[in-house]
Amino acid sequence: MRARSEDSQAVLKPAPLVEVRRMTLADLEDVMAVERLAFKNPWSAELFRRELMHDWSTVLLALRPASERQADAPSVIGFVIFWLVHDEVHILNVAIHPTARRQGIGRLLMVEAIELGRLNGASLVTLEVRRSNLGALGLYRNLGFRPVGIRPNYYVDEGEDAVVMILDM
Ligand SMILES: CC(C)(COP(=O)(O)OP(=O)(O)OC[C@H]1O[C@@H](n2cnc3c(N)ncnc32)[C@H](O)[C@@H]1OP(=O)(O)O)[C@@H](O)C(=O)NCCC(=O)NCCS
Repeated sequence: MRARSEDSQAVLKPAPLVEVRRMTLADLEDVMAVERLAFKNPWSAELFRRELMHDWSTVLLALRPASERQADAPSVIGFVIFWLVHDEVHILNVAIHPTARRQGIGRLLMVEAIELGRLNGASLVTLEVRRSNLGALGLYRNLGFRPVGIRPNYYVDEGEDAVVMILDM
């Protein structure tokens, strides 16, 4: 039976209004600003530069729509980095600016990454996440990822375990 429109409005959130495109070197400063706000031990600019050079790596950005951009504010509000190797998408990093969280933008970027992988022959998505990162764990569970193991002391900075998660497509 089809849901009545008022029922479906109660269940579905509107899709966030953002533009999604691939990162270029010109975006590096804006991306680093989000990275520094999102992580205690951020990646270096050099690591992002390297990702842009690998054929197997893709960095997707979420940007404020053109109509909402201000000259003095950066337009990048989030990013996802993933590798596509054979039939596997591996998510390396995903982050959203703190002021733009819980609006569906992280989910949107993940769905875009998964879809791009699927279109290019992937049948599996994998990632590692800190055991204490409840926000990210919530996002991945929301997308249907399931935990399949633990890598002890995976994050050397604090000796924290990683939860390994996969999504079968
Ligand atoms: C994790 C992160 C990327 C989520 O981005 P986001 O845009 O806020 O997430 P979304 O709004 O798309 O959330 C989609 C769903 O994921 C889950 N979720 C997201 N953040 C959550 C949180 N803090 N706690 C619990 N569940 C959460 C919810 O189910 C949410 O749906 P809902 O808002 O309808 O409840 C963001 O919190 C972030 O940048 N964190 C810092 C960087 C980081 O830890 N990255 C992950 C590295 S592995």
